[in-house]
Amino acid sequence: MKNKILITGTAGFIGFSLAKSLLLDGYKIIGLDNINSYYSRKLKLDRLQILKKFENFKFYKLDIRNKKKLFKFLKSNKIETIYHFAAQAGVRHSILKPEDYVTNNLVGFFNILELARKKNVKHFLFASTSSVYGLNKKLPFTEEDPVNHPSQFYAATKRSNELMAHSYSSVYGLNCTGVRFFTVYGPWGRPDMALFKFVKNILNKKYIDIYNFGNHTRDFSYIDDVVMSLKKLKNKFPKKIKNINSYNPSLSSASFQILNIGNQSKVKLMDYINEIEKNLKIKAKKNYLKLQLGDIPKSYSKMNNTSKLIKYKFQVNYKEGVRKFVEWFIEHYKKN
Ligand SMILES: NC(=O)c1ccc[n+]([C@@H]2O[C@H](COP(=O)([O-])OP(=O)(O)OC[C@H]3O[C@@H](n4cnc5c(N)ncnc54)[C@H](O)[C@@H]3O)[C@@H](O)[C@H]2O)c1
Repeated sequence: MKNKILITGTAGFIGFSLAKSLLLDGYKIIGLDNINSYYSRKLKLDRLQILKKFENFKFYKLDIRNKKKLFKFLKSNKIETIYHFAAQAGVRHSILKPEDYVTNNLVGFFNILELARKKNVKHFLFASTSSVYGLNKKLPFTEEDPVNHPSQFYAATKRSNELMAHSYSSVYGLNCTGVRFFTVYGPWGRPDMALFKFVKNILNKKYIDIYNFGNHTRDFSYIDDVVMSLKKLKNKFPKKIKNINSYNPSLSSASFQILNIGNQSKVKLMDYINEIEKNLKIKAKKNYLKLQLGDIPKSYSKMNNTSKLIKYKFQVNYKEGVRKFVEWFIEHYKKN
């Protein structure tokens, strides 16, 4: 039997997708999620239903904000690796309810860091975001870019996570890898994200809101490529770099690294929408709006650090990815 892996946010999109793939590979997975109602709990429970079919999957309905319960329930479990995804995500929600990000993303993150330290885990990998590049204008976004200008509070909490993890690497020698995701999409994706909303509204003959008058470009990253990258990173521990240039925030003389995970391509939002329309064979009713507060108009990744560690080329372009999502959406919501 392979060693145990803890995945937090297992009922969520990325946590579920990674857990399923690792279970198929024969790993023992401990899943944890509070199944909150930020979006459809039914979708989260449907994802869990799939994971619960695996013998090697053990699930705890736990809230990472509750340190006492977290430590009590996980006491008897030996854990080798942690993938930490449980968080309050979403840019717009962070403008409406910033406090949710303090409790889930700062206090919750601290509790998981403590767990990683006490459990002596070999590798702590955690989710950060392309949003940390904030007001930066230089494209593509690379890991060595300065990230001192978050444009909203969600990004600020994620950047804080990177700094918190660095301090644990420095003081306690915890191997920490922060992965910055770039717009992850695909089957079982999040209902608060554009692709899901577009498909749902178009099918229901409702208007779709297109921000920034459609002038966004995004680095859309297909879920299977993200999962493959995450699996390949499991044993890619950070290298301590002795003579580190202190202006590079992504590498360190401590056991810490920051890695971009993106498709390294830029897609125009209107091309993405066009592809959805083609797949659904329906023309969308479009409501053009100005740039949203806190939103990044362009995102585009280059994986300078990541590609030195893993030789993996993303396989799925946005046309194929959109097709796969639409197929899943129609199939899933026909049954449910
Ligand atoms: N999907 C993306 O495009 C994207 C991009 C950048 C970063 N991220 C980050 O990646 C991670 C996973 O994202 P996702 O898209 O799967 O999001 P998600 O919302 O689908 O998954 C997060 C899960 O965490 C759980 N959770 C939230 N607060 C919790 C708490 N206090 N205790 C226990 N569980 C809690 C939620 O119930 C949810 O199931 C998040 O940290 C997110 O910020 C995602």
